[in-house]
Amino acid sequence: MEQFKYTISPKKNKGKGCASLFQTVHICSHTEKNAKKLVRNGKVCYNESMKLLIPCASGLEQVVKRQLTHLGYPENPAQNGRIAVKGEWEDVAKLNVFLRSGERVLIELACFPATNFDELFDGVYAIPWEEYMTAHSEIRIDGKSYKSALGAIKAAGGIVKKAIVKRLSEKLHLRSPRLDESGERFIVGCSIYEDKATITVDTSGEGLHKRGYRTLAYSAPLKETTAAALLDLTYYHPDKPLADLFCGSGTIPIEAAMRSLKIAPGLKRNFDFERWKCVKKGILCQTKEEANDLILRKKLTIFGGDLSKEAISIAKYHAKRAGVEQAISFRVADVKDFQSSFSYGILLSNPPYGERLSDIEEAKGLMKAFGTVYSSLDNWSAYFISGLPEAERYFGKRADKKKKLWNANIECAFYSFLGAPPKHNQ
Ligand SMILES: C[S@@+](CC[C@H](N)C(=O)[O-])C[C@H]1O[C@@H](n2cnc3c(N)ncnc32)[C@H](O)[C@@H]1O
Repeated sequence: MEQFKYTISPKKNKGKGCASLFQTVHICSHTEKNAKKLVRNGKVCYNESMKLLIPCASGLEQVVKRQLTHLGYPENPAQNGRIAVKGEWEDVAKLNVFLRSGERVLIELACFPATNFDELFDGVYAIPWEEYMTAHSEIRIDGKSYKSALGAIKAAGGIVKKAIVKRLSEKLHLRSPRLDESGERFIVGCSIYEDKATITVDTSGEGLHKRGYRTLAYSAPLKETTAAALLDLTYYHPDKPLADLFCGSGTIPIEAAMRSLKIAPGLKRNFDFERWKCVKKGILCQTKEEANDLILRKKLTIFGGDLSKEAISIAKYHAKRAGVEQAISFRVADVKDFQSSFSYGILLSNPPYGERLSDIEEAKGLMKAFGTVYSSLDNWSAYFISGLPEAERYFGKRADKKKKLWNANIECAFYSFLGAPPKHNQ
């Protein structure tokens, strides 16, 4: 695949308004045939790899970058909340299956100036959609616009779809200029920022937080991708104890167990790209086989407690679905009753903070009880995410680190209270 500057010619632009005939479009094409043709025509600056974009939650970019580095992608610049990596279809499979905190894996197809609907149409039309889609593809448009003349994003989405359908009906010689959309899904992203449109296709489909294990709802769950990121912001090590004293539906303990046992987060789910005609059959199966081979069997010390009996039964069910029920002890318990005989461990929780679950006064009381428990645990570290104003005051200790994060559109902070570093035989 290559990335190149492409000048839309009047011929290619047949039937369209002339405002944008010579705009410059950067396009990525993924077939060798097309690449060679364009290189021959001198239009291509050849680039071997696809450009993959990983959107991530605000405040977690560094965590996702570290996860990418760990997966073998050290070069990953961030742009507008998305991290870019180069890759092939094998990388698309690998990132979807293994990445714990990225939200999706997108392929950037084109990036071009778009200050009006004509420019948007031309830029989208120039993309070789016929290499990806069939006459039956289902096309959904996911648009957003920021600081741009094209602010009416719904109308812009309509233009994007129109341009795709026009191109497909011409290139695939369709009798009707409509697609029946009964086939594989393509979520096409159109993000316009400062009058520049970036067109993507979403290889993941459902967001990557949907691992597949969490099927029942309990109040105010953390996203699985966020829980995995919080874990990466701690000094948790699988040989040491971890306790979530407000575990709700079990997300933090389950993500900790999955990470410790090297269970890939995407192992049990499907992705949109696996049904696309442009993807070599078997790539995803092979990646999942590799992921299966990496799974460890080892004893972990992970505890999940919650005051609600219902929450604990849901958490146990989710842990079973995730294949980690043996690794976690869940118990109905009040935070104030927590004790441990371990001289070192990690508390990692998402206590109620009043906004959604209980009232603020109750949240303050719980924070106080949590702080009291922590002060009784000698060398333990404590970490929590909270949107409660002045959470440290109620916890009774000033945090060693504090990081601003967003959880379900609520501004929160992630607090770190560091215990003594572990001795070797602890
Ligand atoms: C924000 S939710 C945690 C959600 C969880 N992280 C998840 O992903 O599902 C807070 C949890 O604290 C629990 N809780 C409230 N009071 C408690 C108490 N005194 N002791 C332990 N848990 C309590 C609630 O039942 C609720 O499940």
